Amino acid sequence: MSPPEPSHSGRVETPRAILVAVAWPYANSPLHAGQIAGAYLPADIFTRYQRMRGQRVLMVSGSDSHGTPVTVRAEQEGVTPKEIFERFHRSFLDTFERFGISFDLFTSTDTENHVAVAQDIFLRLLEQDFLYEAEQELLFDPAVGRFLPDRYVEGTCPRCGYEGARGDQCDNCQSTLDALELIDPRSRLSDATPERRWSSHFFLRLSAFTERLAEWMEPRGHWRPAVRNFTFGWLREGLRDRAITRDILWGVPIPLEGYEQKRIYVWFEAVIGYLSATKEWAASELNESGDANAWERWWRDPEARAFYFIGKDNVPFHTVIWPAMLMGYGGLNLPYDVPANQYLTMSGAKASSSRNWALWMPDYLSRHDPDPLRYMLTATMPETSDSDFTWVEFVRRNNDELLARWGNLVNRVVTFARRHFDDRVPQPPAALSPESEALLTRVDEAFGTVGDAFEAVQLRRALTAAMAVAQEANRYLDDRAPWAAIRTDRAHAADTLFTALNAISGIASLLAPVLPFTSAEAWRFVGHEAEIQAAGWRRTPVAPGAALPEPRPLIRKLDESIIADEEARIGG
Ligand code: MF3
Ligand code: ZN
Repeated sequence: MSPPEPSHSGRVETPRAILVAVAWPYANSPLHAGQIAGAYLPADIFTRYQRMRGQRVLMVSGSDSHGTPVTVRAEQEGVTPKEIFERFHRSFLDTFERFGISFDLFTSTDTENHVAVAQDIFLRLLEQDFLYEAEQELLFDPAVGRFLPDRYVEGTCPRCGYEGARGDQCDNCQSTLDALELIDPRSRLSDATPERRWSSHFFLRLSAFTERLAEWMEPRGHWRPAVRNFTFGWLREGLRDRAITRDILWGVPIPLEGYEQKRIYVWFEAVIGYLSATKEWAASELNESGDANAWERWWRDPEARAFYFIGKDNVPFHTVIWPAMLMGYGGLNLPYDVPANQYLTMSGAKASSSRNWALWMPDYLSRHDPDPLRYMLTATMPETSDSDFTWVEFVRRNNDELLARWGNLVNRVVTFARRHFDDRVPQPPAALSPESEALLTRVDEAFGTVGDAFEAVQLRRALTAAMAVAQEANRYLDDRAPWAAIRTDRAHAADTLFTALNAISGIASLLAPVLPFTSAEAWRFVGHEAEIQAAGWRRTPVAPGAALPEPRPLIRKLDESIIADEEARIGG
């Protein structure tokens, strides 16, 4: 596979189909900033950039309506899993809308289409002998008469001795566990001591894919080192077959007679959501071509590329299990890249719902604007190592970077041009000065460097490079001092303001993937009427004489008092 081609300004001549596949969040709590920084924001930035380039990009995901995170919460509240899923699905849609996460389709695993697509994959893999049935020893709660999902069992960790370990994982030492390993296990449903019982399940023959997977990922030098190393580690240990059904009732039914009391395991069917969501989009009114087979562009065209945006805890499901399922099914594209992020911590500690230790998105959005947080999360995005969110840093980045270097530039230039040039873009002199030409060349060239960083999913680097251009525009203005020139040399000032408005037009486009709301505003403030996204990946020249509307402050200055105010809300 060829490396990403260098970007050129403007629009691509032959659009490439790009699938932006984003992790499916469990619908059991509102979204927090860690999830946003981990997957949704990087996916959205990448998608917005590719749309500006003119690529055929499709961004899909949906609520993961199944799994124990949803059923545990339903049991705690005494409501059905469906009620929990519906409540948080609505919450997700609302967060995406207000934060500008621009999915082409955000659906859920609770649809007939998803069930049909998941069952089709199940049956095909069974037919190909990549699924087989076997007996499995599991924990059974005699008090309630049910097999216990791993998360429903608690006990002492066999590795570190921690007494509150769960059947799937120890939160103290982070080991992944098998519920059968727990010492003194207790059922979380009844407190009873579970018994061991045999149950019949379907297994994915993962062991058959070790070599094919190693061959497939070997040439993927563009993957992030952490993702490559983790995946190699898994493959080196040799893959073990995995049970892909469970003794539960909330989930996708097994399409065979005699299995009414069992369901397909959430992880096996949730990853299938990427495909089912693409099919749902193609068959819906969202697809303007009306061609229900349009999903094949992203899944069958060998030139298409699929990027999976996920957090690091999801890596093996996307670089091993899902690719194995796709290989077994046949004829469908495997991931091109899996740019998994590390974690975002909150004031030094891992996010936790039970301790209310998180920046909840609905809460944030009820008090603040979206772009300052999009800026902050991109500037500190955990692309290569964990990063930390603090309110002190948020206020500093907003005031000293976003406002000081970009917001003020826009407001200063537009206000000055309106005051002295009759609310219009000034007429430039016949030839711009060399300094003006140099600034505009710098802006135009940035579409190459910033674009290359976006292509490579190095979003921090892209943002830094775009902000550096804004800094140069500030320096240019300081050097040219139009506020002084306007009194002595009006042509000089006209050259400067015309150039600065053009630079802002370009910088707004460079920043648009990261800051969609304020970039669209800045774009309008320099006199454009068309949509910024439609203008392509280039600097759109401003028209001399175009009317400049009255701007409002692009970025609000944040008072230091919000730090204490916001800090008091977390934890308690
Ligand atoms: N629901 C899982 C989680 O929140 C993520 C699933 S991503 C999927 O960790 F695509 F595999 F569904
Ligand atoms: Zn432990």
